[in-house]
Amino acid sequence: MASYPNVTVMDHPLIQHKITLLRDKNTNVRDFRALCTEISMLMAFEAMRDLPLEPTEVETPLATATVNRLAGKKLALVAILRAGLIMADGILNLVPSARVGHLGLYRDHETLKPVQYFRKLPSDIAERNVFVLDPMLATGGSAIAALDVLKDLNIASIKLLCILGAPEGVEAVHKAHPDIPVILGALDSHLNDKGYIVPGLGDAGDRIYGTR
Ligand code: PRP
Ligand code: URA
Repeated sequence: MASYPNVTVMDHPLIQHKITLLRDKNTNVRDFRALCTEISMLMAFEAMRDLPLEPTEVETPLATATVNRLAGKKLALVAILRAGLIMADGILNLVPSARVGHLGLYRDHETLKPVQYFRKLPSDIAERNVFVLDPMLATGGSAIAALDVLKDLNIASIKLLCILGAPEGVEAVHKAHPDIPVILGALDSHLNDKGYIVPGLGDAGDRIYGTR
């Protein structure tokens, strides 16, 4: 796969370790959920690396100090249903006041094309930094459809966060939306003939919610 300046693959040992546990077919539903939440929090650190700061004064017990606090736009998380919800839960632990939007998309099992069935977004989303959340970037169809919806709303700042990505999905997203930064927990080998990420972790939604 070509390397893209907008694509960051997390190389932190803790994230790699947790993703290894996530991949294991013997990891149970409870642990799977907890791991997704934890990995999402760690990925959010990378996604927030470039948040602007502004100086402020604080009285410590010893002195008055000029220090930094976050400035600029507030955050909105857009969870691609179903599996993206677990990532929103994780990041809300770090940024509890973030607004949360929901985009219902499922992948038709025959065509592998995304079908939109639900959409509810914060009314002020255009004024916010937006993180689009989905654990799996496979063909890229769902992510591209979500980014199409958000770009139509003139949102200036959007990042896509996925726990696992396939090269096919990364390339498709880059082709459709080259301006969108993509943050991946890990980049896998390829897609199989059913559009599943290999080695991957299986069906994320089914493993989070215990469905099949
Ligand atoms: C999964 C996953 C992504 C999509 C990725 O969702 O959570 O949304 O597939 O595949 P793509 O990159 O080829 O579009 P799924 O359609 O299984 O829905 P679910 O989360 O409701 O189970
Ligand atoms: N969606 C999933 O949940 N898993 C895959 O491997 C591909 C798409």
